[in-house]
Amino acid sequence: MNLKNSSTRYGVCTKFFHWLVFIGFVMQYFVAAIMLRIKDAETFWGFTQGVFYDWHKSVGLIIFGIVIFRYLWRHFASLPDWAPGLSDGEKKYLHWVERILYICMFAMPVSGYIFVMAGDYGVLFFGKFPLPNPIGKIEWLATVADYTHIVTALAIALAFFAHMGMVCKRHFIHRDGYLWRMLPFTHQK
Ligand code: HEM
Ligand code: HEM
Repeated sequence: MNLKNSSTRYGVCTKFFHWLVFIGFVMQYFVAAIMLRIKDAETFWGFTQGVFYDWHKSVGLIIFGIVIFRYLWRHFASLPDWAPGLSDGEKKYLHWVERILYICMFAMPVSGYIFVMAGDYGVLFFGKFPLPNPIGKIEWLATVADYTHIVTALAIALAFFAHMGMVCKRHFIHRDGYLWRMLPFTHQK
């Protein structure tokens, strides 16, 4: 079991971070969709809107921590070589899509945090621990952060489809086993 990346494959840590963040983001979109649709007094699966907000904010901050680790790890454990057979255009495309994904992975939790702090809504971590507000109420900043959160949510969805486009193209059209590079329990050379 290789924890670090080798020149030909991703190691356990990179794969772990990749899929943990993926699951985290899917959950965040799901919870956001619920919390923005139910009313104050309503419940969904027995939980109030406030519980969903607390959950979304708390999990979002944990994801932020994981993304920092993931980014540091990417620099610490150098990446494998490019997948064989990629054209120069595809390499450039991958480079930019990954860059945009990383920018969004940071922008999403940071904008959410600034929005709730500058809007003076605060964070009750998992409904139990109120976090201090180092920003204080600044209305214009809350508005900017709210828009940034919404625009980044759209940007990451687009970047995700761009990412999937390349994965599907290489894996299903070129049939080069591209997907195995990131899937766990695959022992490709
Ligand atoms: C880490 C990943 C995160 C993802 C993927 C994410 C995703 C989303 C999405 C998709 C929405 C719905 C946007 C819309 O159409 O209005 C949303 C709303 C919201 N998010 Fe996040 N979020 C994240 C982190 C956070 C964090 C860390 C906080 C606060 C500490 C936060 C606070 C909020 C709030 C308060 C809303 C409601 C915004 C409104 O009412 O306009 N989010 N989030
Ligand atoms: C939130 C969703 C996702 C994000 C943000 C994301 C992000 C990334 C990033 C940044 C990389 C570069 C390696 C790294 O730094 O970790 C990567 C690689 C990869 N991802 Fe994703 N990914 C997502 C979802 C998926 C899904 C759902 C699949 C497959 C169905 C997938 C398949 C791959 C593959 C095969 C690679 C290796 C690419 C290569 O080595 O050229 N990703 N992903």
